[in-house]
Amino acid sequence: MKELFNEYVKSIDTYIMFRIKQEAAMLAPELTAKNRAPIALAMGAPVAPPPQFVYNSLSEALKIPQIHTYSTPKGETFFLEAIAKRMKNRFGVELDSKTEIFSLIGSKEGLANFIRALINPAADEKKQDVILVPDPGYASYTQMIKTNGGKSYGIALSKDNHYMPDMNQVWDKMQKDGINPAKVKAMIINYPSNPLGATCTKDYLKHVVDFCKEKQIWLLSDAAYCDIYFDENKKPHSVLEIEGAKDVAVEFYSFSKPYSMTGFRLGWVCGNAEAIDNFGRLKSTIDTGLFKALQKCAADVLNSKEGDEYIKAANKGFKEKQMIIINGFRELGWEINDDDIAQATFYIWLPVPEKYKTSTDFTSDVLKTSGIVLVPGNAFGQNGEGFFRLSAVASDEQLKETINRLKQDGFRYKDCV
Ligand SMILES: Cc1ncc(COP(=O)(O)O)c(C=O)c1O
Repeated sequence: MKELFNEYVKSIDTYIMFRIKQEAAMLAPELTAKNRAPIALAMGAPVAPPPQFVYNSLSEALKIPQIHTYSTPKGETFFLEAIAKRMKNRFGVELDSKTEIFSLIGSKEGLANFIRALINPAADEKKQDVILVPDPGYASYTQMIKTNGGKSYGIALSKDNHYMPDMNQVWDKMQKDGINPAKVKAMIINYPSNPLGATCTKDYLKHVVDFCKEKQIWLLSDAAYCDIYFDENKKPHSVLEIEGAKDVAVEFYSFSKPYSMTGFRLGWVCGNAEAIDNFGRLKSTIDTGLFKALQKCAADVLNSKEGDEYIKAANKGFKEKQMIIINGFRELGWEINDDDIAQATFYIWLPVPEKYKTSTDFTSDVLKTSGIVLVPGNAFGQNGEGFFRLSAVASDEQLKETINRLKQDGFRYKDCV
C-alpha cells in the first residue's frame, strides 16, 4: 500500500517513556528470575493515591442529575472560578475566569494543541516556524513541535548558567546557528524543571517576559511542577506574577503531579485572553471538554484545606525520597554538593559514570544488570547527554533496594565494573 500517513508522524517514534516501559516489561521475566525484578524510576508519576477527599467529592458528583452529559471545551463555570481562586490564593494573580482560563485534558494535551495553534505547518525546513525549548527539557516539546510541522531550537540549560540563560545570548547564538528570527513564534520555559529539578528566580521570569515582549513572541510557561517544592520560603512563582506578563504569556497547569491525579487527565491554561481565545477556537473543533464529575472533584480539591495538606505531606515525602537517593549515590561515589540538590520536583539528575560513552549505555546496563529503570539524559535534548534522570516516586523500600542493588552489582561513579 502506498504511504498515506504524513511525514511528521512517520518520522517520530513512540514517546520515550512508553518505550522504556515496554523494554522493562520485555526484560521483566529474565530480571525477576535473577532477583532483579524491575523497579520503575523512569516515569514522572507519583505512586501514592490522590487525596481521599477527591474520591469522596467524585462519588458525590456522580449523583448530580445530568452529570453525564457534555461539558463545554472551556470548562464549567464552577471549575474555571475555582482555578481563578487558586491562582489568586497561591500566587496573588488575578484572572478573569471567562476569558483568561481554559480547561485541559492534562497539560500535555494543552501544550500540544497550543503549539498546533501557533505553527503554520511546513515540510521544508527553511520555511518552518520555530519554537525555543529548554534543553535539557521535557521530551514531548520537540515532538509536539515536529508533529505540527515546526522546528524546535534548544535553549541550553547548564549548571554554568544556573539553568537561567541570558536570552539575548541565546538569540544571538540561534542566529549564528542559521535560524531566521522572523520564524520564531514562541519560547517555552519549565520551572521547576523536568528533568533538572531546577527552579528560577522572579527576576529571571521578568527577564524572560521582557525578552518575549521585545522579540514579539509568545511565552509558554509550563508550571506542571510549581507545587512540588521543599522550602516554604522558596515557593516557585507563576510567570503571571510579573507585571505585564499577561501581554505575552500563557501558563500551563496540571492536577497530575501535586495531587497524584495523573490518570484523571486534568489541567488548565491561563493568561493572555487573545491567546486563550485562539486556542479555544481550535480546541472547540477537536474536543468537547472534560467529564463534569472530574471537574467537580478537581474544583473542590483546588481550594481545600485537604488539598493543601496533601501537597505539604507529599512534598515532605518527596524530600525524604530525594535524600535516600542522594545519600545512596554519594555512597556509590557520586560527588553531590548540598547546593546542587534540587529544591523542587521529584527528579534527580546526575552524571553518568565516567566509563560510559553515552547516557543510554549506562541506563541500559543498569536496567539489564540491576533491573532499575532510569531515563538516559539524551532523551531530554542534546545537552542531556552525559546525565541520567531518576524519578524518586517509588516506595522508600524500593528506593533503598535500588541503592543496594547498584552497590551489589558494582556500579560506582568511578571505575565502574
Ligand atoms: C514538564 C512537564 N509538563 C507537562 C507534563 C504533562 O503532564 P500532564 O499531561 O499529566 O498534565 C509533564 C509530565 O510528565 C511534564 O513533565
